[in-house]
Amino acid sequence: MKILVTGGGGYLGSIFCRKMLAKGHKVRVLDALWYGNESLEELSNNADFELVQEDIRNLVTTVSTMKDMDAVVHLASIVGMPASSIDPIASEEVNYLATKNIAELCQLHEIETFVFASTCSIYGSQPNTVITEKSKVSPMDFYATQKYLSEKATHSVNRSPLILRFGTLFGYSPRMRFDLVINLFTAQAIKEGKITVFGGKQNRPFLHVDDAAESIVFGLEKNLTGTYNVISENFTLLQAAEKVSKITGCEIQIKSEVEDERHYNVSADKLSLTGFSASKKLDDGIKEIIDALSDGKINDFKDKKYSNYEILLGKHETDEIIRKRLL
Ligand SMILES: NC(=O)c1ccc[n+]([C@@H]2O[C@H](COP(=O)([O-])OP(=O)(O)OC[C@H]3O[C@@H](n4cnc5c(N)ncnc54)[C@H](O)[C@@H]3O)[C@@H](O)[C@H]2O)c1
Repeated sequence: MKILVTGGGGYLGSIFCRKMLAKGHKVRVLDALWYGNESLEELSNNADFELVQEDIRNLVTTVSTMKDMDAVVHLASIVGMPASSIDPIASEEVNYLATKNIAELCQLHEIETFVFASTCSIYGSQPNTVITEKSKVSPMDFYATQKYLSEKATHSVNRSPLILRFGTLFGYSPRMRFDLVINLFTAQAIKEGKITVFGGKQNRPFLHVDDAAESIVFGLEKNLTGTYNVISENFTLLQAAEKVSKITGCEIQIKSEVEDERHYNVSADKLSLTGFSASKKLDDGIKEIIDALSDGKINDFKDKKYSNYEILLGKHETDEIIRKRLL
């Protein structure tokens, strides 16, 4: 199979690409590589791998990279509420408009398979219920709203997309992120001996990044279409912190201010019925990150390159300076 992966250099994409290459598929990545190219460097000599470094908003390149593809897995996005709030117009272009274009172009180019990475964040805060794909959506921020509107647009322009609503990802990846709660808690525990939890009672669905990649492989192999929640376990933020503390022995500090009010319990039963279930638990991811921090794969978890917000804020400020000079 020849597959185009947008955002293939990212936290999830860099694992997914490796899985597809290992299965003998041809992988073309379309990625602006905003967070660097380290995650894909070791793939550069693989004859089945091709990298096109470009923005998905560039329609000319996007159309040409789709030529001759059997499937498109669309992961490129300005991910997370903080990062997507830096430049709302750019976020709308990337997260919504480019997604709609790519889904529609698949139809035009007769590419049968289109996979879109969505998020359980679209459910917002619904504390007293178990959320299924039939539950109402209630996005609480700009990022989640863009993802939900992209799902709707994708459905309207593509005959049979596969939409995967992932829980909050965790675990080690060649493109590491420490702006994700489990990864951050673990690094804080190891490096500072203390985790700070804001609120703590909010329930969240979690998923190991490797299981997220595996669910896309599964979807492609089974020709799955439709919308699915993809999660392994639901925990409150305090329970998640306690798991980290149990393994590392760190202290937990609870602050009453709640920075992020999303609160929901998600069911992945619909996907389980197709034969897929996540294989990794929170403890697996925590242990992997501890290993990566202790064997020197990661030195400074506070390095800007591990945070989408920090990198994009810097990029935005530079773009603004250039724009003002040009005016
Ligand atoms: N990480 C999570 O917890 C999580 C949860 C639910 C859903 N998702 C979704 O999964 C997908 C992958 O997330 P991730 O954690 O790997 O994110 P990431 O930020 O690590 O990767 C995104 C990749 O997309 C690229 N990209 C962004 N904008 C681009 C543009 N305009 N043109 C070309 N490339 C661009 C970036 O360079 C990066 O390599 C996203 O669609 C995200 O919304 C992630």
